[in-house]
Amino acid sequence: MAAADAKRNDFQSRAMLAATLSDIIADRLDAAVRQRGKALLAVSGGSTPGLLFDNLADADIEWGKIVVTLVDERYVPDTSPRSNAALVKSRLLQRRAAKAKFLPLYQPDRTVAAAADLADSGLRLLGLPLDVVVLGMGNDGHTASFFPDAAELAQLLDPANPRLVSSVNAPSAGEPRLTMTLPPIAAARFVALHIEGDEKAATLDKALSPNSTLPVRRVMDATPVEIFWAA
Ligand code: 6PG
Repeated sequence: MAAADAKRNDFQSRAMLAATLSDIIADRLDAAVRQRGKALLAVSGGSTPGLLFDNLADADIEWGKIVVTLVDERYVPDTSPRSNAALVKSRLLQRRAAKAKFLPLYQPDRTVAAAADLADSGLRLLGLPLDVVVLGMGNDGHTASFFPDAAELAQLLDPANPRLVSSVNAPSAGEPRLTMTLPPIAAARFVALHIEGDEKAATLDKALSPNSTLPVRRVMDATPVEIFWAA
């Protein structure tokens, strides 16, 4: 499927988007648990997914058989307001979802390179593919931590990269990061791209234009991605 054919779901409100996407994710996790006895969910951080997490935390599914991890992480401790792990713990791993197991990317007292190795092995041990990946997107067209100015961008987007998780250094990112590479994202059973606002709609249009090389487009060229957008 070409990127331009990506299925796009537009919603009248962010609340409707969050409720619908939460139901879709819960159905997929539930089916995975029924079919394979476990489910793997990788989510993004940032400001967009909070409301989605609030909805998903109440999903009536067997959370005890579900592992939640992050697509990417800013290399900061849980005490930082920029920590994606802190967001997941405070908004997603609550109520029913408190029973889920969480695999963090950040490791206190480790270098970012050592944490990348640990997260890589941890993800491998979970047994891929991931059942559901939820991506966000920045106004510069990055998704995961595939920043256009990342020194490691070519390797991160290499479909033959043997690593599942790598460290990233990008001047525009603010701090060092850890990110899943393209292969585990492209191999996932379902990839949702959750974006909100007119500025991101304009970036998405750019990404879908014929010769775009924006990182988010590179992901859409590698695997079917379903888009969820609300103003
Ligand atoms: C992160 C991400 C990143 C995010 C986009 C959108 O940790 O920053 O996982 O890829 O999804 O930057 O971020 P916002 O939701 O804050 O706009």
